[in-house]
Amino acid sequence: MNREYKWTRVTQVENIPPLEGRAVTLQGIEVAIFNLRDRFVTIENQCPHKGGPLCDGIVSGTTVVCPLHGWRFDLDSGAAIRASLPACVATFPTRVEHGVVLVDMAAAQRVEARETAAENAAA
Ligand code: FES
Repeated sequence: MNREYKWTRVTQVENIPPLEGRAVTLQGIEVAIFNLRDRFVTIENQCPHKGGPLCDGIVSGTTVVCPLHGWRFDLDSGAAIRASLPACVATFPTRVEHGVVLVDMAAAQRVEARETAAENAAA
């Protein structure tokens, strides 16, 4: 599907240190933007388990661990990895332009729970 991106300028890249996340509310949705050193990624900030703030989780590779009970999420797909239930958070296209992080809130992606379950089974 071809569509035009609708980028929202969010913050200077230096405001999100490497391997950390920051929460921001964009268009009424609280998201967490992570600096993976070579790129930035954006996911919903609220953990689907019990609402933990994923922005405060530990980043390892391309995953983040929820600070409350340890569910791990793939930062590219939003899928929970080896969680006790199939779960996911939405992901949002993110890019950097002239040192500014931009997010397209209109292009949210969410993997289906059955896909998450399949990934968990394969893990
Ligand atoms: S609230 Fe995230 S794992 Fe429980």
